[in-house]
Amino acid sequence: MSNDNMMESERQEEYIKKCQIYVSAFEAEHGRLPKACVVTFGCQMNARDSEKLCGILEKAGYALTDSEEEADFVLYNTCTVRDNANQRVYGRLGCLNSLKKKKPHLKIALCGCMMQEQSVIEKIQKSYRFVDLIFGTHNIFQFAELLSAMLSSGDMIVDIWEGTDKIVENLPVKRKYSYKSGVNIMFGCNNFCSYCIVPYVRGRERSREPREILREIEALVEDGVSEVMLLGQNVNSYGKNLENPMSFAALLKEVEKIEGLRRIRFMTSHPKDLSDELIEVMQRSTKICRHLHLPLQAGSDRILQAMNRRYTKAQYLALVDRLKHAIPDIAITTDLIVGFPGETLADVEETIDVVRKVQFDNAFTFIYSPRTGTPAAAMENQVPEKTVHEGFDKLLAVVQETAKERAALLQGKVMEALVEEVNEQDPAFVTGRLGNNMLVHFKADRRLVGKFVMVSLDTCHGFYYTGRMVDWLGQTKHTRLGKMVDNQWLN
Ligand code: SAH
Ligand code: SF4
Ligand code: F3S
Repeated sequence: MSNDNMMESERQEEYIKKCQIYVSAFEAEHGRLPKACVVTFGCQMNARDSEKLCGILEKAGYALTDSEEEADFVLYNTCTVRDNANQRVYGRLGCLNSLKKKKPHLKIALCGCMMQEQSVIEKIQKSYRFVDLIFGTHNIFQFAELLSAMLSSGDMIVDIWEGTDKIVENLPVKRKYSYKSGVNIMFGCNNFCSYCIVPYVRGRERSREPREILREIEALVEDGVSEVMLLGQNVNSYGKNLENPMSFAALLKEVEKIEGLRRIRFMTSHPKDLSDELIEVMQRSTKICRHLHLPLQAGSDRILQAMNRRYTKAQYLALVDRLKHAIPDIAITTDLIVGFPGETLADVEETIDVVRKVQFDNAFTFIYSPRTGTPAAAMENQVPEKTVHEGFDKLLAVVQETAKERAALLQGKVMEALVEEVNEQDPAFVTGRLGNNMLVHFKADRRLVGKFVMVSLDTCHGFYYTGRMVDWLGQTKHTRLGKMVDNQWLN
């Protein structure tokens, strides 16, 4: 780690101490700790950022809560990838305003991707005066400092940076799950797909040093984590801008060596950068999950070109062929956009054709949302809403049908699942995640959360399974924990 960054984390520790003084004063006055609620919108990257924000809040002495009504401090970590993400934030801010009228000491802060847009800041400054603190994606590592400033000021604080080359390590983190964790390997994006706002709000690509990544994962494993998700907007271009360049495949090989780590996932892969070296590493790995999220976006070459995706339909299909040939049990999921400027129903048919040929295990289907400042938003041939919906409905039907067919193929199989949580509807059941990212519900003791078990996928319900725990021979297991811990397959 560079000295500069070391000093930065130490500086922030000092501000955490300042916040602790405020927390003690609050406790003396109210007879309880102040409560903080962090609400996350958007992708895995934001979810990981929120864990860092929670880490700082917890260290400062706040009690974390999921309830905005109970909170003394509410922080929204926002997303702006599509307009509906923004609208949700504005809607919920309206509710917070009423809450603040009843509870004037309530402090409200906003951060994340949406705050990197000038027009959003102007709107909040004009119409949402009750917000106390606004910061962006580039200075999130200064949250302790900003929090401390907010606590000692009565005015709205706005601090947005246009970019940063800093990567600050070693700040506190509060994980949502004890047994799995996201790990940032890079920040930002250089691809500038013509519809996408991410490069504008997250800045240019910066990779973390491999030793920092490996050290973080080792520490996570020591702390009980058995599954990691390596995070970046385009993990396949990892390492290109490091002092000693390193490929993503080479990084994966190093991660694989970490003892005690059981599962490795990563997100997201851009098809144009997916190397044969990566396919080979996945093929040989015993830890990398048999799942690849490989956003297609569209199937028409004309639209792909206008999107600046830099691959053709044929190239995408050839890549999938190579993947399926090397790793026959791989699950492939994707993202699709309908209604990009100039897209006709004939173009959507091209997307549908790819869906039929690839047989995606799952696909997130989005309606194109114009984002101010992106090239696509300025294109003249925006598609009428009626055409968009027609294409969207057609595509969705095929996506659901093929995903169901894929899921049905595994019915009756026995697979390993990582038990993630107790079922909300019936606490006698738990939910496990398979290597291919599908979920299975089965009867089991809640103390198995965080453990690996073998499950028979008895019934396929389209997007999930119900099943039962079994041993290696396929025999039903009893769910009393005492009986099972003796079994070697239960780690
Ligand atoms: N870096 C990732 C995706 C980040 S955004 C990647 O390239 O795969 C997640 C998804 O949101 C994208 O894959 C895309 O399908 C969708 N998306 C991004 N911008 C959008 C827009 N303006 N309208 C609709 N969907 C969009
Ligand atoms: Fe957006 Fe494209 Fe970058 Fe993904 S690769 S974040 S879609 S610009
Ligand atoms: Fe949204 Fe920002 Fe992620 S715009 S999708 S939260 S990178």
